[in-house]
Amino acid sequence: MQKIVAIYPGTFDPITKGHVDIVERSTRLFSKIIVAIGKSSKKKAILPSSERLKLAKKILARFPNVEVCSFSGLLVNFAQAKGATVIIRGLRAISDFEYEFQMADANRHLNDKIETVFLTPTEQYAYISSSMVREIAELGGDVSPFVYKEVAEILENFYIPFHNSKNKKYK
Ligand code: COA
Repeated sequence: MQKIVAIYPGTFDPITKGHVDIVERSTRLFSKIIVAIGKSSKKKAILPSSERLKLAKKILARFPNVEVCSFSGLLVNFAQAKGATVIIRGLRAISDFEYEFQMADANRHLNDKIETVFLTPTEQYAYISSSMVREIAELGGDVSPFVYKEVAEILENFYIPFHNSKNKKYK
């Protein structure tokens, strides 16, 4: 069988159970998966790249054919440098489609030897997004159905100053 290396890029701010679901499905399809933590020009991440990398490495350590790294610059250049010929993206709902279609098209213009493949997460995780998880954590809600405990702890610590200042305000 041909060995295909695939890259799964994202901001992973933070990594969720939905992302892990996509990684797990990908490990059954490709010889190697590179989870690539990048920067989106449209978003300002709350967790530093080093923290996102550490969390993803810890959570994905159980998959022997998964490598986690961060990248900057164009995704297709990084993919090529890593020997990846497939870009994996998760498609959760029809609302993801237009943006994902644009991104796949842009990446194909940049390098037409790299194919984008879309995978859907299990129904249970179809509505999770990192920003939703951040908002729940910020407002003191329980994020444990959506993220692993290592992530929940980091988010809790991240938002402690915010919760303390809010509690002071309402005293
Ligand atoms: N489970 C949970 N969440 C999921 C998900 C799943 N299965 N599938 C998608 N998502 C969510 C993410 O949580 C994220 O949510 P958020 O917007 O609330 O944070 C959202 O869908 C998509 O974000 P993400 O996967 O992080 O990708 P992105 O759209 O932010 O793109 C890069 C990030 C790094 C891939 C992209 O900006 C990039 O390629 N940058 C490099 C520069 C480049 O090459 N640009 C040209 C390419 S167009």
